[in-house]
Formats: sequence, C-alpha cells, structure tokens
Amino acid sequence: MTDPRICLVTGASSGIGRAVAHELAGRGAALVLMARRADVLEDVATECRIRGAASVTVAPVDVTDDEAVAATVAATVAEHGRLDVVVNSAGLVTYGDHLETSAADFRTVIEVNLLGAATVARHTLPVLREQREGTLVLVGSLLGHVAIPGMTAYVVSKWGVRALARQLKIECADLPGVRVAYVAPGSVETPIYERALGDASANGHRPPPPTMSPERAAQAVVRHVDGRRHEMQTAFSNHAVIAAFDVVPAVYDRVVGPAFRLLSRRG
Ligand SMILES: NC(=O)c1ccc[n+]([C@@H]2O[C@H](COP(=O)([O-])OP(=O)(O)OC[C@H]3O[C@@H](n4cnc5c(N)ncnc54)[C@H](OP(=O)(O)O)[C@@H]3O)[C@@H](O)[C@H]2O)c1
Repeated sequence: MTDPRICLVTGASSGIGRAVAHELAGRGAALVLMARRADVLEDVATECRIRGAASVTVAPVDVTDDEAVAATVAATVAEHGRLDVVVNSAGLVTYGDHLETSAADFRTVIEVNLLGAATVARHTLPVLREQREGTLVLVGSLLGHVAIPGMTAYVVSKWGVRALARQLKIECADLPGVRVAYVAPGSVETPIYERALGDASANGHRPPPPTMSPERAAQAVVRHVDGRRHEMQTAFSNHAVIAAFDVVPAVYDRVVGPAFRLLSRRG
C-alpha cells in the first residue's frame, strides 16, 4: 500500500466518524467524507486539512441511497486510482420498546444502520477485492451483543451489523490482503443521543456511564485500519456486560437491562 492512503469515512459529520476523519487526517490520508449535511461536512473538511490530510473530498450522500453510494465510490476510484480504507460509522438511534416504536422509525433505523452498512460494503468490497488489498471497518455497538429494554430497533440493527461483518469476513477469507473489521463501542459522548428519532425520545437521553470520548473510540477504530492486533470491544466494561448477558441471563434481564435504561435518561 502506498501513501497517502485513500480513506472513505461515512458518518463523518459527527461523533465517532468525525473523530476517525480527524485521526486519519493526522496520518496524512486522502479523505472522502460522507454524511447527509453538506455544510457540516465542509467544516470537518477544513478541520481535516488543518490536521494534515493529503486531500479532502466532501460527499453529501445518504447511505441508504444505493446509487449515490455507488457513484461516490466510483468517483473516488476514478480520482485516486484505488481505495485503501473504508470506515462505516453512519448511524442513528430511536428509543422505545417495540410496541412504542413507529413502523417508520423502526424502518429508518434498520435502513440506515444495517442496510446502509450493507450498501457501503456492497460497493466498496469489490474495489478492495480487485486490488487484493484494503480494509473495511464496520462500526457496530455493544448493543449488537446484548439486549436492553427501550432500544429495540437499534439493538436489532446492531445485531445485524455484527452478523454482516462476520459473514463478510468469511467471504473475504480467500484474499488475506482484504480485511473486514468490526468495532463495538460502548457508550460514547456524541450527539447521537440528542438526535434520536421520534418526538418523545428527543433530548431526554444521554450516554449511560461509563462513557468514553469520540476520540478514544476513533483510536480503537483506526487500530483496525492499521492492521495491528485489535480488540473488537472498545472498553473492558463491554466484556462485563456481555458476560452477564451470556452467563447469567436471568440476572441480566432483571438488573443490568433496567439499570441501562435508567442510566440512559437525563434528569
Ligand atoms: N455514541 C455511542 O454511544 C455509540 C455507541 C456504540 C455505537 N455507536 C455507533 O457509532 C456510529 C457513530 O455514531 P455517533 O455516536 O458518532 O453518532 P453521531 O455523532 O450522531 O454521528 C452519526 C453520523 O451518521 C451520519 N448519518 C446518520 N444518518 C445517515 C444517513 N442516512 N446517511 C449518511 N449518514 C448518516 C450523521 O450525519 P448526517 O446527519 O450529516 O447525515 C453523522 O455523521 C453509529 O453507527 C452508532 O450506532 C455509537
């Protein structure tokens, strides 16, 4: 792989994706920044240039728009001749048990978090496979490993992302230079909570403790890009929650899940 590395980051306008863009910019990458808000992406592009990005292209694209994602990937390859790193961080949340969640919000969460990841993979993996080299990182969640009350659509979407990553890993096993990685952040201090879908859920939620900064979560993501030995979970506390879920599910359901719901509420 030659420098600068050509890196496509989705969800680059905010939170973990924005911090990943900053981190890669500091390593001199050529960046393609994807999210829906063009004005915010322009701000991130400026931040990335200041941090040392070799070049920055802004792609105001919805990850659920198959044709637009395909066109962005094609334009990137046309301009740079290749694609080295793809980080899919685009995502959103809705709060509510299943019977409290509207069909529209349920569908949107699945479309963005799961189908968006599948779309990004569908259009970028063929490029990496053709090159026989490159890394795709899917940002999942601790909530792709456990169940909790009050976030059903999100939990379902993130279990799906974990399954997708595992499937793609198998499908790319024939090409050792092509890596599919998966990162599961715990609780990260980003705007995702206050931007939650649905009137009833907006502004009433926060990242439950223990939290980490988007910068730390981004470093965990970029460790996968580097191909160093890596941890799928970004925090030790994730392992404790998963162990409780797997080993003592009855206790988990009575204690941990409800505690999570309580700690996620503001005020
Ligand atoms: N924060 C946490 O505690 C946490 C924990 C575990 C996992 N995660 C995961 O980490 C990822 C990033 O989340 P975050 O916390 O950084 O959230 P965030 O700050 O709200 O950022 C989400 C990003 O996704 C973009 N996005 C949303 N819908 C999109 C769409 N349809 N098409 C394209 N881009 C879209 C947003 O940009 P636009 O609005 O401009 O499109 C934004 O850039 C998500 O997959 C999330 O599930 C977060």
